[in-house]
Amino acid sequence: MSENHYVIETVDLNVWYGESHVLKDLCMKVMRNKVTALMGPSGCGKSTLIRCFNRMNDIINNCRIKGKVLFNGKDIYNPNTDVVTIRKKIGMVFQKPNPLPKSIYENVAYGPRVHGVNDRETLDKIVEKSLKSAALWDEVKDRLEDSAMSLSGGQQQRLCIARALAIEPEVILMDEPCSALDPIATTKIENLINDLKKKYTVVIVTHNMQQAARVSDYTGFLYLGQLIEFGPTKQIFENPQEELTEKYITGRFG
Ligand SMILES: Nc1ncnc2c1ncn2[C@@H]1O[C@H](COP(=O)(O)OP(=O)(O)OP(=O)(O)O)[C@@H](O)[C@H]1O
Ligand SMILES: [Mg+2]
Repeated sequence: MSENHYVIETVDLNVWYGESHVLKDLCMKVMRNKVTALMGPSGCGKSTLIRCFNRMNDIINNCRIKGKVLFNGKDIYNPNTDVVTIRKKIGMVFQKPNPLPKSIYENVAYGPRVHGVNDRETLDKIVEKSLKSAALWDEVKDRLEDSAMSLSGGQQQRLCIARALAIEPEVILMDEPCSALDPIATTKIENLINDLKKKYTVVIVTHNMQQAARVSDYTGFLYLGQLIEFGPTKQIFENPQEELTEKYITGRFG
C-alpha cells in the first residue's frame, strides 16, 4: 500500500515525563479516512500518544520526546515545523466538553477568525456548515446567539466537534469524547464519527471496548507504554494475536 494512505505515522516514538518513561519505541500508522481507536488500561499512555500527534505535549513542562511523528510524511517535531499549522490541520476534542463562554455562533467562528476570516457572510457559511457536519445544526439554528453554556453536555461536545471542523482540519483527535455523556448523546457522537471519516481521519481514545468495536476500522492496544497490538478492529476483537490483547478484550485482565 502506498505511503500516502497514511496520514500520521510514529517511528520509534519515546516519551518521558521527567524520569518516567511512558511511551516506548512506539511504531504505528494511522490510515487516511478511517477511524483508529486506541484502547488500554488507565495510565498506559493513550492520552500521551494522542497528544504527540499534534504536539499538545509541548505545553507540558517536564515532557521529553524522542523519535518521529510524521504527518503526511513530514516530521512534526522538526524544528522548522510551524506548530500553529499543525494544530490547524490536526484538531482535538477533549474528554470534557470545553466550549468557550461565548455564544454558540462565536464558538464555531472563533477558530476561523483567529486564522484571519472576518467577513460575516463567509463566517455565517462556515458556522452553518460546521454545525451541520457535527449533527447539531437542527438543534441550534434558531438560537445561535445563545450562550454555549446553555447547551446540554452532548450538545456541547458536538459544538466542540463543530469548532474543530470549522478550521478545516485533516485529522480529528478525540480523547474519550463520550465519557462525560449519557448513552443517547454517546450514540449521536458515535454516528457522527462514522460520518466524519468520509472527509476526515479520526483517532479516538476510548476506555470502552464496545465503543472501539462499534466505531473504529483499526484498533491499537496499549499496555504500560507499549503498543502491544495494532490491526483491523475486527481482527483485534475476534482473533487477537497477542495473549495480552486477548486477556484485555475478554476482561481477564490484572
Ligand atoms: N504531566 C504529567 N507529568 C507526569 N506524569 C504524567 C503526566 N501526564 C501523564 N503522566 C503519566 O504518564 C502515564 C501515561 O498517562 P496517560 O495520561 O497518557 O494515560 P492514559 O492511558 O491516557 O490513562 P487514562 O485512561 O487514565 O486517561 C501515566 O503513568 C501518568 O501518570
Ligand atoms: Mg487519558
